[in-house]
Amino acid sequence: MTKRTLAAASVAAAALALLFSSSTPLRAEHKHSPEVQERSGANPLIEEMRRLDTVFKEIVSGVALGDGVRVHRAIETMHGAREKTEEALHAGEIKPPKNSGKLEKFEMMDKEFHGDLEKLAEAASKDDRTGMLRLTKKLMDGCVRCHAAYRK
Ligand code: HEC
Repeated sequence: MTKRTLAAASVAAAALALLFSSSTPLRAEHKHSPEVQERSGANPLIEEMRRLDTVFKEIVSGVALGDGVRVHRAIETMHGAREKTEEALHAGEIKPPKNSGKLEKFEMMDKEFHGDLEKLAEAASKDDRTGMLRLTKKLMDGCVRCHAAYRK
């Protein structure tokens, strides 16, 4: 083997290694241990949060790479989650672990958050990178504010 083919071969090997290292965690993310599934039970708020958690990581990657399609696709998978949570809240089947007496404010924060998620989907469909960044930062503030008020 010449020096040049050797160099080419090691570049190819490095590229392959990169490919595998980046695809492995993606696959692992979709696997839920039985323990995690059991803990989530039938609480739609916790279900929504776990989905949102995965979706938001994908959003961050999409925004970081200026990839509106990736951001839009991630948000689409959230559809229906909020409605289930809201129904369960109204039916009194679930309540936030903290400040459960202040449901009105909770709903306001939730409504604003999901409104911003819709706006982010719009910005993503226009590939508006400045808008995507601004809204993603605002959403991040939303996670922290709501948890501070309603999560133990
Ligand atoms: C309007 C309120 C609200 C917003 C906004 C919100 N959360 Fe939550 N989240 C909660 C509450 C309440 C809990 C606690 C639920 C419980 O333990 O019963 C929670 C729990 C979680 C959990 C823990 C789930 C588990 O397995 O116990 C994760 C992860 C999470 N949220 C992620 C996020 C992320 C990421 C965002 C923002 C992109 C976000 N949340 C935005 C209210 C909110």
